[in-house]
Amino acid sequence: MPLTRKAYRAAILHSIADPAEVGIEASYEYFEDGLLVVDNGKISALGHASELLPTLPADLEITQYQDALITAGFIDTHIHLPQTGMVGAYGEQLLDWLNTYTFPCESQFADKAHADEVADIFIKELLRNGTTTALVFGSVHPQSVNSFFEAAQQLDLRMIAGKVMMDRNAPDYLTDTAESSYVESKALIERWHGKGRLHYAVTPRFAPTSTPEQLTLAGQLLTEYPDLYMQTHISENLKEIEWVKELFPERKGYLDVYDHYQLLGERSVFAHGVHLCDAECARLAETGSAISFCPTSNFFLGSGLFNLPMAEKHKLNVGLGTDIGGGTSFSLLQTLNEAYKVMQLQGARLSPFKSLYLATLGGARALRLEDKIGNLQPGTDADFLVLDYNATPLLGYRLKQANNIAETLFVLMTLGDDRTVLQTYAAGNLVHQR
Ligand code: GUN
Ligand code: ZN
Repeated sequence: MPLTRKAYRAAILHSIADPAEVGIEASYEYFEDGLLVVDNGKISALGHASELLPTLPADLEITQYQDALITAGFIDTHIHLPQTGMVGAYGEQLLDWLNTYTFPCESQFADKAHADEVADIFIKELLRNGTTTALVFGSVHPQSVNSFFEAAQQLDLRMIAGKVMMDRNAPDYLTDTAESSYVESKALIERWHGKGRLHYAVTPRFAPTSTPEQLTLAGQLLTEYPDLYMQTHISENLKEIEWVKELFPERKGYLDVYDHYQLLGERSVFAHGVHLCDAECARLAETGSAISFCPTSNFFLGSGLFNLPMAEKHKLNVGLGTDIGGGTSFSLLQTLNEAYKVMQLQGARLSPFKSLYLATLGGARALRLEDKIGNLQPGTDADFLVLDYNATPLLGYRLKQANNIAETLFVLMTLGDDRTVLQTYAAGNLVHQR
């Protein structure tokens, strides 16, 4: 195959470490006049344009942007494909919200044509918002995952998804059985896991909707295949937590249910964790498990405030999640806008560089993909974004007053949204142009 080389010149910023570990200044690299070189879908060089240009052929095609920032593609560590059509459902908290809105909406995925249509809308929406990798819940129907992976494969996206396993406490039209969930998940794993940039996640919805038999089989799948992911929900809502205690009286607490069925590990991502205690955070950290912090959802469903400083104290891996459709925006910029307020309400700060980390490298680490995505280091996948400083009149005016990249970044995260994403590239291909 002939070498396809392209270069992109603009201000470039990426996260290289967690500010909680190395301090803010050592957590990022910023090139005011930077150059990003892409060879065959991978980043081959990054640096100051003045230093890199003399090393490159004079006839190299260079795309140049003014008033724009190149950064790594965003990583959404928790989102539900079949809830795309029910974002912004009024009036309920988690358990009533599931019964009133979520389960009826997900039931439509029994129809493959519906699954195809929504998968297309969903992927376009991810890319419009600059999200290049997501950890995705399907519905209970295997075709929800087939539709999603078929669409993701066409664009060579790095995506992770799984079919929901749910064999109790949900309507009959939406439940599988322990056995059928095992067989169907296995078939999806065989078909998709490790194909191109696609990965499979074993997906028990949450403890209340799985029998002990189903949780046992979920754990068994994880032992049968290397590098599988596991995704579920934990400690989101106080009534949910009480219910788990009633359903599993023999266990010490909510996390202990998952622990007992061997669902913790380096590729396990637990959504929310709003009400986790210190000991649970320690256990998650010890097993290498990650939390997906979903601020727009936690506000919208009245679930509570995630304690990021406690997670940091335990060196727990944390990524950011939109949790569509409990969450209200596909935009990780808007998700960070709300994350900042979660910290403010707890008397804490969220620095713009910690925010950048959460939306990119932190998500990659939560997914154990930091050697492939999450920043712009040479050798990684060329999944990157061009953010437009003049996306709206207010943004353009406000950014003219910004004195440094910290201020620019914070304003982008406060005022920015899908309109801010001028272009999205995946594996070096332009996959969204505003
Ligand atoms: N817990 C179990 N299922 C769900 C879901 O679909 N969304 C959210 N936010 N929490 C859940
Ligand atoms: Zn969720």
